[in-house]
Order: sequence, then C-alpha cells, then structure tokens
Amino acid sequence: MPSGPAMLLGSFLLMVATTTVAQPRGQKVSRSRWIHRIQQGQCSYTFVLPEPCLPEPEPFGSSNSLPGDSPADPPPLGDWRSQRVRQLEKVLENNTLWLQKLERYIQMNLKPELTQAQQHMVQNQTATVLELGSNLLNQTTTQAHKLTNVEAQVLNQTSRMKAQLLEASLSTNKLEKQLLLQGIELHQLQTRNSALETRVLTLETQQQAELDDIRDEKERLQHLLGRQSGALAGLERSLRAASSNSSLLQRQQRQLLESVQRLVQVVAQGPASAIKAAEQMFQDCAEIQRSGANASGTYTIHVANVTKPRKVFCDLETSGGGWTLIQRRENGSVNFQRNWKDYKQGFGDPAGEYWLGNELVHQLTSRATYSLRVELRDWEGNEVYAQYEHFQLGSEGQLYRLSLSGYSGSAGRQSSLVLQGTNFSTADADNDNCHCKCAQMLSGGWWFDACGLSNLNGNYYSLHQHMRKLNGIRWHYFKGPSYSLRATRMMIRPVDL
Ligand SMILES: *[C@@H]1O[C@H](CO)[C@@H](O)[C@H](O)[C@H]1NC(C)=O
Ligand SMILES: *[C@@H]1O[C@H](CO)[C@@H](O)[C@H](O)[C@H]1NC(C)=O
Ligand SMILES: *[C@@H]1O[C@H](CO)[C@@H](O)[C@H](O)[C@H]1NC(C)=O
Ligand SMILES: *[C@@H]1O[C@H](CO)[C@@H](O)[C@H](O)[C@H]1NC(C)=O
Ligand SMILES: *[C@@H]1O[C@H](CO)[C@@H](O)[C@H](O)[C@H]1NC(C)=O
Ligand SMILES: *[C@@H]1O[C@H](CO)[C@@H](O)[C@H](O)[C@H]1NC(C)=O
Ligand SMILES: *[C@@H]1O[C@H](CO)[C@@H](O)[C@H](O)[C@H]1NC(C)=O
Ligand SMILES: *[C@@H]1O[C@H](CO)[C@@H](O)[C@H](O)[C@H]1NC(C)=O
Ligand SMILES: *[C@@H]1O[C@H](CO)[C@@H](O)[C@H](O)[C@H]1NC(C)=O
Repeated sequence: MPSGPAMLLGSFLLMVATTTVAQPRGQKVSRSRWIHRIQQGQCSYTFVLPEPCLPEPEPFGSSNSLPGDSPADPPPLGDWRSQRVRQLEKVLENNTLWLQKLERYIQMNLKPELTQAQQHMVQNQTATVLELGSNLLNQTTTQAHKLTNVEAQVLNQTSRMKAQLLEASLSTNKLEKQLLLQGIELHQLQTRNSALETRVLTLETQQQAELDDIRDEKERLQHLLGRQSGALAGLERSLRAASSNSSLLQRQQRQLLESVQRLVQVVAQGPASAIKAAEQMFQDCAEIQRSGANASGTYTIHVANVTKPRKVFCDLETSGGGWTLIQRRENGSVNFQRNWKDYKQGFGDPAGEYWLGNELVHQLTSRATYSLRVELRDWEGNEVYAQYEHFQLGSEGQLYRLSLSGYSGSAGRQSSLVLQGTNFSTADADNDNCHCKCAQMLSGGWWFDACGLSNLNGNYYSLHQHMRKLNGIRWHYFKGPSYSLRATRMMIRPVDL
C-alpha cells in the first residue's frame, strides 16, 4: 500500500535529478525558466524550474555568482577554485532549498489526493476483504452449524444406542432371570410329574384288578340275566295263552248268547226262515262251520263296519276247515290288472277266481287274530302250502300293510313274502321300496317290496306259456322267479277256531 505513493514520489525525484543533470542542454522556454511536465494517470504536473544562473565573471566575493570559464583575468588559481566551489555550493544550496520547497509544495498538494486514493484503495480492498471475510465467515459458520448438527446427531445416535444397549442389557437380564425361574419351575414340575406318574401307575394297576373283578361279575350277571330272561319269556308265553284263553271264553260266551237269541227268533218265526236269518249274521266261514255247515262252497257273510253282506267261498274241509277264501286263481277267467279301488273293494266271482277285498280283510283281521294259509299248484300236479300263524292287514291309511309271523309249510324252507311292514301297491298306487313301479312292471296288486319274491296276482299264463314269465304268478321258494303257477288259494281263519 505505501508502495504506490512512494513509487510515485521516487519517479518524480528521479525526474528532477535527470532534469538537473540535463540542465546545460535543457530546453529554454523562457530566459529564466525550465518547465517540466509530468503525466501521472489522470493528473499532469508542471514544474517550472529556475535556470541556474552562472553569472558573467563577477568580481570575486559575490556570494551567489559562480565562477565562469573566462580566463580573462585569472585570479590566483587557488582563490578561483575555492571561489568557484563556493559558488557551486551556493547554487546547490539554492537548489536544495528549492527542492525542499518543492517537496513541501508537492507534499502539500499531493498528499490529500494520494491519501484519498490510498483510502479509496484501502476502502475497496477492505470491502473486498471484508466481503471475502464475511463469505468465509458465512461458510465457516454454516460449516460449523452443519458440524454441530452432525455432532448433535452423532451424539443423539450414540445416546440412543446407549439407551438401547442399556435397555437390551436390562431385558436380557430380565430374560435370564425368567429363564432361570422357568428352569426351576420346570424342574419342580418334572419332579411332580414323575410323582404323579408313579401314582397313576399304581392306580392303573389297581383299576386293572378292579376291572377284572368287574368283568367276572358282569359275566356272572349276564349268565343270571340269560336265565331270568328265559324265565320271563316263559312267563310271557303263559300270560299270552291265558289272555287268549279268556278272550276265547268271552267270544264263545257272546256267540252262545247270539245263537240263543237267534234260536228264540227262529222259534218265534217258524222254521222256514231259520237258515237264512242265521246266515246273515255270520262274520266268516268259521262261524258258518260252527253253526253246523260241513260242505265247502259259497256262503254269505256280514262283517261289522262293512255295509253290504258279501258272498265268499268257504273251505270247510282242509285241515279242519273254517277257511274264508280271500284269493283264488285257477284258469285266468278274471282279469287281475286292477287299480287300488278294485283291490280295496274286491272283484271276481266267489265260485271261481276272485279277490275278496283289502278293506274287508282289514276289518276281519283287526277284530280277531287270524291265520293265513296259501295253497299253490304247479303245472306238474304238485300241491304245496305256506301257513302263517298270525296274519293281519293294516287300514287303508296304513296302505294295507302286511303283518305275518309263524311261517311253516311245504312251499319252501322260508317265506316268499316279506313278513312285516310291506305296503300294498297297485299300478296306480306305488308304495313299494323300489325306485321303479313294481306293480306296473310285474302286473296286479300285491305287497311288493323291491320287488319281492312273490306275486300271486300276476298275469295268468296257460300251460306251455308259463315258463320264463317274470310278470306271471310267482312264488320264488316253490318254483323259482320266472315260473307262472297254475292255481293258487289264499284263505284265513281265526286262530282260536
Ligand atoms: C537564488 O536564486 C534566486 C532565483 O532563482 C535568486 O533570486 C537568488 O538571488 C539566488 N540566491 C543566491 C544566493 O544565489
Ligand atoms: C474498486 O472496486 C471496484 C469493484 O468494487 C473495482 O471495479 C475497481 O477496479 C476497484 N478499484 C481499485 C482501485 O481497486
Ligand atoms: C450466507 O450464505 C447463505 C447461503 O449460502 C446466504 O443465504 C446468506 O445470505 C449468506 N449470508 C451472508 C451474511 O452472506
Ligand atoms: C434425537 O432425535 C430425535 C429425532 O430424530 C428426537 O426426537 C430426540 O428427542 C433426540 N434425542 C436427543 C437426546 O436429542
Ligand atoms: C287254556 O284252556 C285250555 C282249555 O280250554 C286249557 O287246557 C289250557 O291249559 C289253558 N291254558 C292256560 C295257559 O290256561
Ligand atoms: C254233513 O252233514 C250231513 C247232515 O246235515 C251229514 O249227513 C253228512 O254226512 C255230513 N258230511 C260230512 C262230511 O261230515
Ligand atoms: C267300526 O265302526 C265303529 C263305529 O262305527 C268304530 O268305532 C270302529 O273303530 C270301526 N272298526 C274298524 C276296524 O274300523
Ligand atoms: C274258469 O272257472 C270258472 C269256475 O270254475 C268257470 O265258470 C269258467 O268258465 C272258467 N273259465 C275258463 C276260461 O276256463
Ligand atoms: C309303508 O308306508 C308307510 C307310510 O304309510 C311308510 O312309513 C312305511 O315305511 C312303508 N313301509 C315300507 C316297508 O316301505
């Protein structure tokens, strides 16, 4: 900074010196002045220097005259010389003085500008430096800020990690403690468990022994039970026999009473209408037989709850007689392809082929216990029978379901009719146990199961056409599934004939 003005001053002084040295051949502006112009930047400086006057030979002793070259009257050589030196000194002194003055002037005039420039520069530079400094400071502060932020974050992280570590160590401690406690508990449980196991083992052995005892006891009890149930069955049987005995007695009493009343009437009316009146009161062929008839044939019965009297064929000879025929096939004269209503009410001719009717049979068999006898004849002249100790037919609401028991006879080692619960089906009333319609497939009306081993109401086939007929008159355990029989009879009578 100070180098600027110093250099300026230095160059100026050099100029002055040069001017001084060039003095003898200097430019003569005026008689007495030397003018120097100096250009420095915008400013130009003009210096007017006085011409160094070397006086014409003057008398010695003049103080400000310099010794000339004139050797006109040469003084003594030493004097001249010293005079000359003095003159020169004076000039020099003058010059120096002037120079000093000049300097002072320069200093006076230039100083403000210089200082101004200086100040300007200083200010400029100071400003830039300040700017730089502030920038630096800004950067530093931002860096420092960032640094502190980072430091804070690091500190935060470290503190958090420390906290986590602490927590983790705490939780591990807790876990270890829990593990220890659980281990202890486990041990205790194991010991308790082993104790329990031993107890269970002992209990098991005890229970096994008790179980064996109980099993023995049970066997003994079962033995006893078997004996007692046998005894019970015997008792039941005798009870049933006794009750049937008593009902039989009652019935006989009633019949006797009726007979007495009828006899009284006959006696009152005379012998002509005696037999007719008696006939109309008979319920079945057993009563007819009891009244004294001994020839098989067509009779009239009057069943309670059935409005009209009915003609039936009575077999009063076979196996003690008293049989009311409910079905007969013998020559195919009657069509058995009938609907539900026909099978309910009955059809055909009592002297030939006929079906007595489900409703009448239901009424008969629900007021007393009846037996059923089925008689079969094949085309080779063989005759067999199947007898059922008990026979009962349900109501129409029960679809005339069949109830049989006590099979015996020569028509096969077992029954070709399902004994219990088979409903009656006709072509228009499918009550069988088949997805098909047995009555439509096999013809007639029957207690079809699915579709069962028999059908005595099937199509009638004559001789030579009777083989391989699935819809004929079948009885499986007599002639197999496809043999159509020649003649059949179904007949019932009370058990207590
Ligand atoms: C110095 O110079 C000035 C003029 O420039 C002159 O007037 C003066 O007499 C001189 N003094 C001497 C001692 O020479
Ligand atoms: C002073 O600064 C200005 C910019 O601020 C610049 O243009 C100028 O040249 C500077 N002057 C000096 C003498 O440094
Ligand atoms: C510091 O720098 C920021 C941007 O880097 C700027 O916004 C702010 O004005 C600066 N401050 C100064 C004093 O220069
Ligand atoms: C650490 O920083 C989170 C946000 O990142 C703040 O919620 C928490 O208070 C700070 N913790 C400390 C100890 O500074
Ligand atoms: C049933 O009565 C007959 C005589 O009618 C008799 O012989 C028989 O012992 C009686 N049965 C019972 C169990 O009383
Ligand atoms: C049937 O009864 C009549 C008398 O009414 C008798 O003459 C006849 O021998 C009896 N027949 C038989 C088979 O018992
Ligand atoms: C017969 O009819 C009487 C009343 O008329 C009735 O109480 C009885 O239940 C009927 N019996 C049968 C088997 O339908
Ligand atoms: C079938 O038998 C009945 C009675 O025995 C008889 O009236 C009828 O004419 C016979 N029909 C045929 C086709 O033999
Ligand atoms: C007969 O019909 C009755 C409905 O009246 C039914 O509940 C029963 O299961 C039937 N019997 C058979 C063997 O299908």
